Amino acid sequence: MNPIVNPALHSPRRLRRQAAMRALVREHQLSPSDFILPLFVVAGESVRNEVPSMPGVYQTSVDQTVATAREAAGLGIPAVILFGVPESCEKDVIGSEAWNPEGLVQQVIRAIKAELPQMLVMTDACFCEYTEHGHCGVLDHRHDRDEAATLGNLQRLAISYAEAGADVVAPSGMVDGMVAAMREALDASAHPGVAVMSYAIKYASAYYGPFRDAADSAPQFGDRKAYQMDPANRREALRELALDLAEGADIVMVKPALAYMDLIRDVRNSCDTPVAAYNVSGEYSMVKAAAMNGWIDERAVVLETLLGFKRAGADMILTYHALDAARWLG
Ligand code: PBG
Ligand code: ZN
Repeated sequence: MNPIVNPALHSPRRLRRQAAMRALVREHQLSPSDFILPLFVVAGESVRNEVPSMPGVYQTSVDQTVATAREAAGLGIPAVILFGVPESCEKDVIGSEAWNPEGLVQQVIRAIKAELPQMLVMTDACFCEYTEHGHCGVLDHRHDRDEAATLGNLQRLAISYAEAGADVVAPSGMVDGMVAAMREALDASAHPGVAVMSYAIKYASAYYGPFRDAADSAPQFGDRKAYQMDPANRREALRELALDLAEGADIVMVKPALAYMDLIRDVRNSCDTPVAAYNVSGEYSMVKAAAMNGWIDERAVVLETLLGFKRAGADMILTYHALDAARWLG
């Protein structure tokens, strides 16, 4: 901090008077290359189902998912993250459809890589969309998560996504040891170059509500508080971070983003590893609802919010606003 010896000589406003000066002294920039676009894949052909609680977000069949990825690439968005939404009849108690080599996500990975080889394809690695009970893994007879069994299935999932051509796997279930398990499986496979982006600091948040409509992944009983973090805790986040870094995470994520900006900054100050912020579904829906009521200027609010994540320390942002924001920035 530089001490201001004589306040009478300093006018911060001198650096704000002209647009050109503001451009010169601007500390952070938002660019389409910061964005990761989440995509929800459903069965069928030519399907585009708008998610009622997320206007402008669609569940799309494989062909339409590829079409959206093509649009993203055209706007300079470097990456997509895929979420599979299987049919109810494909769900079971362990979520085995998740690692079906012919599953929806595996089909989309292959299709995007065939058409857009330069697009980075990330996959959310979790089971809540694939289990009948909607929890993020295998449960024991007491409805407690069986971490060992879930880790084994996460290894199957990592290999399945890597075989299909994914560049990044992103475990989101807050399973102890998930990064190490997936890293070990990938390194022992033909795909040691696949990166792990860990949902390292993920809170048990009410902001995931609209996503659970989009992905049909709401828990059928109980909640996720036994594995996701307590929103009251900050020091604990740094322990989660240390564990995932020690396990070999290539990118670490903070989720949600808006109410957890302090954590984005903490992570940025605590390590040199790239940090991702997940601007989650409920954050999107709140802005959309206000914008559709004419209560806020959507474009200005979205760009200000996304810039805020960068200022807080994020290197990349997962956001449902990615296509709009990229258009506005273009
Ligand atoms: C799956 C998963 C969730 C989200 C991303 N991956 C839901 C959850 O943990 O309940 C939430 C994303 C969002 O709200 O946008 N574990
Ligand atoms: Zn899950």
